[in-house]
Amino acid sequence: ALVSLRQMLDHAAEHGYGVPAFNVNNMEQVHAIMGAAASCDAPVILQASAGARTYAGASFLRHLMQASVEQWPSIPVVVHQDHGASPAVCLQSIQQGFTSVMMDGSLHEDMKTPASYEYNCDVTARVVEMSHACGVSVEGELGCLGSLETGTAGEEDGSGAEGVLSHDQLLTDPEEAAMFVRQTGVDALAIAIGTSHGAYKFTRPPTGDILAIERVKAIHERIPDTHLVMHGSSSVPQDWLQVINEFGGDMGETYGVPVDEIVEGIRHGVRKVNIDTDLRMASTGAVRRFLAQNPSNFDPRKFLQAATKAMEALCKERYEAFGCAGMA
Ligand code: G3H
Ligand code: 13P
Ligand code: NA
Ligand code: ZN
Repeated sequence: ALVSLRQMLDHAAEHGYGVPAFNVNNMEQVHAIMGAAASCDAPVILQASAGARTYAGASFLRHLMQASVEQWPSIPVVVHQDHGASPAVCLQSIQQGFTSVMMDGSLHEDMKTPASYEYNCDVTARVVEMSHACGVSVEGELGCLGSLETGTAGEEDGSGAEGVLSHDQLLTDPEEAAMFVRQTGVDALAIAIGTSHGAYKFTRPPTGDILAIERVKAIHERIPDTHLVMHGSSSVPQDWLQVINEFGGDMGETYGVPVDEIVEGIRHGVRKVNIDTDLRMASTGAVRRFLAQNPSNFDPRKFLQAATKAMEALCKERYEAFGCAGMA
């Protein structure tokens, strides 16, 4: 059944687990996420970005989400809009049947220019008022995603602030977080702790100076009843990186957020963990390998099935590590 984010995360807080929120753009990703959840009885958050809407079309996305609850009726599913740029975007998603929206007011509507606290607070509070009137949950974001190594959002192709950010912008302040939650009424709060979107997060396996899990603890201590959200939480699996490069790909050396660090975050109030890149890497690696090893194949179902299997295994690992198994 479709449920709101608030319902699901309240349950997660009560039982001390975190839910991976996987980005979806196509049927294979939905199959993988739902298949993995069904195999270990885990709750599901499917999230769609503006890029997903452009890729699949709003109507196809809506029917994919609907199909997931028809095919797997025993699994609770949150359909979440990732990184809404404005109240208008959030309203469109509510009309499409999403049960949760993210108003990302940490950036202006261009999704590149860092916004003031006042702007963020104002747009987010407006979205909360509108969404709650419709029974839809709201995630806000305070602080800007970006690397503490370089001060930049990192990703070439879009999502993230442009230019160099200060340390203050890259780490959410616990006191300001408390004020933000009180003034906006958000159901969940995305925080900045040194993670960034995409595959190139860290140039070395991260230590506490570049991945600030301690900051999660400080925020959770200040606002223990607020569900925290970690973005940019792909682990950038080294085995898939290797498969991609072994079969004709060209990705540089890079490191993600270790699963153990996410689990530490979950012990301190993190309830939603956003993951996109890991599924992209698993499917790309699986397709490259399948086609290299089966050069005569020309049936896309064969290589897409390899991608689905690879993504499903990764999803299952995350459900188990984050404590979701058996919680549906
Ligand atoms: O927010 C970033 C997510 O990974 C979505 O990426 O905008 O390319 O769909 P996308
Ligand atoms: P990754 O790029 O680390 O998978 O992050 C995804 C994300 O935060 C989507 O909002
Ligand atoms: Na989100
Ligand atoms: Zn994100």
